[in-house]
Amino acid sequence: MLTDDQNNSADLRPGVLEDLPELGLIAGPELQEKAIKAWMLALGQSSFRRIRDMPGEAVPGSLILKEGGQDLHLRGVTLVALSMAEYFIKAFPQASIDRDVLIAGGLCHDIGKTFECDPENQKRWAADASRNGRPSLRHPIFGAHICLMAGLPESVAHIAACHSAEGDNVQRSLECTIVREADAAWWRVATGAGLVRPDSIPAEFNRMYAQRVNN
Ligand SMILES: [Fe+2]
Ligand SMILES: [Fe+2]
Repeated sequence: MLTDDQNNSADLRPGVLEDLPELGLIAGPELQEKAIKAWMLALGQSSFRRIRDMPGEAVPGSLILKEGGQDLHLRGVTLVALSMAEYFIKAFPQASIDRDVLIAGGLCHDIGKTFECDPENQKRWAADASRNGRPSLRHPIFGAHICLMAGLPESVAHIAACHSAEGDNVQRSLECTIVREADAAWWRVATGAGLVRPDSIPAEFNRMYAQRVNN
């Protein structure tokens, strides 16, 4: 049964399509539709109305883009993952990588940030972390919940759930491994290129990467 949030989310569709044009690269119409539905569902349950309005941050307060929103990260990770896959497929014809799962997984890997990065939730959690935790669910867990609710296959929900440290206790799928590497590379390169606010760079990143000064 649809909740009120889901019923009211139809008007979110044009924004999802505009913010993530790479949804059009998903060849299977059913998978493409479910990925769109997942984003409508996630946004509909949050205080965000557009993906581009979500802060361009890795987790709340950490690695915040100087300019641009979460759409840039999702699109970038997807395109980096796709280029890695295309290289392997071209160089090694025997390499079998599911392109559609990779694209849907790349575009949905951080879908749970609608929950973890929602300022309303952060206010609640900060008020008394002893009640529900802070956060109660990190974005990989909430993201997997959204993916499954939207009817996306477990291969895509697995990418949302396990692209980060949450996946360290399982064997990741090949497509999840590619998204995970693309995700980590994206933040490292963004940091090195001076695209991230210096006050939001965690100590371990500061030790590893110097930020190029942009004029
Ligand atoms: Fe993530
Ligand atoms: Fe990410």
